Amino acid sequence: MNGAATQVGVSRPHESAALHLSGEAIYIDDIAEAAGTLHAALGLSPVAHGRLLSIDLDLLRAQPGVIAVLSAADIPGANNCGPLVHDDPILAADILSYLGQPVFAVIASSRELARRAAALAKTAIRFEALPAVLTAKAAHDLGQYVLPPMHLSRGDAATTLATAPQRLIGEWSVGGQEQFYLEGQISYALPQEQQAMLVHCSTQHPSEMQQLIAHALGYAAHQVQVQCRRMGGGFGGKESQSALFACVAAIAATRLARPVKLRLDRDDDFMITGRRHGFDYRWDVGFDETGMILGAEVDLISNCGHSADLSAPVMARALCHFDNAYFLPHVALHGFCAGTHTQSNTAFRGFGGPQGALAIEMILDSVARRLGLDPLLVRQRNLYSDAGGRNITPYGQQVEDNILAALTDRLIETSDYHARRAAITAYNASSPVLKKGLALTPLKFGISFNVVHLNQAGALVHVYTDGSVLVNHGGTEMGQGLNTKVAQVVAHELGIRLSDVRCSATDTQKIANTSATAASTGSDLNGKAAQDAARKIKQRLSLLAAQLFGCTPEDVKFDGGRVSAGEQSLSFAELVHKAYMQRVQLWADGFYTTPGLHWDRAKLQGKPFYYFAYGAAVAEVLVDTLTGESRVTRADVLHDVGKSLNPALDIGQIEGAFVQGMGWLTTEELRWHPQTGALLTHAPSTYKIPTANDSPPDFRVSLFDQANAADSIHRSKAVGEPPLLLPFSVLLAIKDAVASTGQAGPAGCDPLLRAPATAEAVLCALGSIAQRGI
Ligand code: MTE
Ligand code: MOS
Repeated sequence: MNGAATQVGVSRPHESAALHLSGEAIYIDDIAEAAGTLHAALGLSPVAHGRLLSIDLDLLRAQPGVIAVLSAADIPGANNCGPLVHDDPILAADILSYLGQPVFAVIASSRELARRAAALAKTAIRFEALPAVLTAKAAHDLGQYVLPPMHLSRGDAATTLATAPQRLIGEWSVGGQEQFYLEGQISYALPQEQQAMLVHCSTQHPSEMQQLIAHALGYAAHQVQVQCRRMGGGFGGKESQSALFACVAAIAATRLARPVKLRLDRDDDFMITGRRHGFDYRWDVGFDETGMILGAEVDLISNCGHSADLSAPVMARALCHFDNAYFLPHVALHGFCAGTHTQSNTAFRGFGGPQGALAIEMILDSVARRLGLDPLLVRQRNLYSDAGGRNITPYGQQVEDNILAALTDRLIETSDYHARRAAITAYNASSPVLKKGLALTPLKFGISFNVVHLNQAGALVHVYTDGSVLVNHGGTEMGQGLNTKVAQVVAHELGIRLSDVRCSATDTQKIANTSATAASTGSDLNGKAAQDAARKIKQRLSLLAAQLFGCTPEDVKFDGGRVSAGEQSLSFAELVHKAYMQRVQLWADGFYTTPGLHWDRAKLQGKPFYYFAYGAAVAEVLVDTLTGESRVTRADVLHDVGKSLNPALDIGQIEGAFVQGMGWLTTEELRWHPQTGALLTHAPSTYKIPTANDSPPDFRVSLFDQANAADSIHRSKAVGEPPLLLPFSVLLAIKDAVASTGQAGPAGCDPLLRAPATAEAVLCALGSIAQRGI
């Protein structure tokens, strides 16, 4: 029996798991091509910064199979695909802003021929080179920003620092990260009658694609339909940056009145699109002898690339996550969005949160090592707590339902932290080359879009006369299991089997004005909206059943595919059929807005988050001090997902995020040529994402099973992004292993380890110990 009581809170396979495995899942490139379909490829800027003089269109048009070549002048409407600020051209017009920027589009009879012609960009594009700024530090020194600086402060950091018993002044940086979705960016545009356009787009944000395509074509929104059944991964990379490709395909399809598909090659995807922002930090921190942080003044400089894209909300989230799990009495945080002549950086799982929180974790680690304390102890001392009013974030939100100490304590126990710490010390004393390291890091992650109005969602639930149910909602499926969770919610509400509920493709003609599936809010928002719709139908069906049974609507129960009151019952399908005959509306829309949010964007103060998700991880690593190689030998995770809607999916998200975050901090290194600004690491040959083999061989993931105090969907918590912060423990365990080679031992030596902690970075850190004689 699949009764109502069991539809949520149980592990169910991802709705498309079997299709993913068998290859039957339809991605955009698998959609059967309409007759006459043409293929587009993009010609890319060969220079990081320059003035565009001309494009040799004759040369390009003369290439085999080429039907048309389009440049900025051919765009009928706005030449912009920027989500918030209109500073992002679809095709470069006068100024070339980075090496790899699309300048023209070749439309040809086949993808191969389009790509061959587009590859002539180096000869076809004539330009005058201008000086390029290639690093965030250089841009910061020049005061070159894509957005005005942001400041988040509380108390009096300057005075606190001046009087603090101990002070730590330092600089650090962390690299960016490529989303590396397995399905690259792709859009397929099909012109429709009466000046309309259907675009199949691999995107997390169909509504924004609809708007930007409409602007580019000079259409009204109702002339553009965007559809997405699923993405082969998005990870933030398809939140705004799917737009350029959607717009080019739609522009070409309008000009030629033919269907046009644009599917990027992996190298072009790397060269054109942005990724996680790398951050540079400068910090000045005051603390006491016990490791309690008293005050901090920190510059956070993000490498935004050539345009604003989502860099403002990314920086806002970074500033709002610098505190991570800790109460910081006096802070002055300064966020600088540096403009460089590189790809425009964008959303990536965590959306700036990881870059903010990592800084305080590095600071606490250094504070502990300077004081000769176990970093865990310093972390525990600084945790948010209800005692002494240490529960207000620097942006003014109270940390309600704080489970940090309880969660951390439980993980210390279940991971056997203290015994293993002692065992590792003993191991390292007798092992001259191989060194072990251990670290525990907690996390707190705010759930909601930092922009209040985005926290809304809609859904449509259709009950057909045979009792089967179709759900449509505004969220998109990118592998995270959103459709499965939403279907579970609807099945639960109507008391029917999960197999009787189906989710259909996301479509701007079904739900209008949706927000991106982002900020981990997918199931919170769309689950509630779908629940609202299902409840409306249930209410109407209850009225009818009450008439039939001669009871009150409140007595009618929906469970196990049956509708009953006392002894009387009929199947859900029977009741639905009767309702149809009685002309009862069997479909409904649902809507949800997250309550209680307010946010002052200028002051960075308010209640931006509906609630917090918490978690902690302990990582143990083994480092080879001769080669610098490292590997995680064991990871223990305790993560808070409230009352899980689907534990199997949630654990999958936690494991995936852990390994993805580990990749960011250990192996995924981005390098741009220091003179030309060419991205050198633009393929898996040089850019190393983790594989299944890098997953910790001993990987223990548990859920902290406690209902969300906030009234979220079935008291669950969002899980998409927060666990990306768990593998901070990996980076700090590597640092711990490196520190154990110092004269003072791990608790007295504070080596400089950069991130990602590649083998080279580890060797540098080991070298810094020898050099500084610490
Ligand atoms: N999981 C998979 N398999 N693929 C993805 O692309 N994206 C992540 C996360 N988990 C992603 C994923 C990101 S960046 C976000 S914001 C959330 O999923 C979005 O989905 P949700 O809000 O439904 O959790
Ligand atoms: Mo996720 S970075 O919010 O798409």
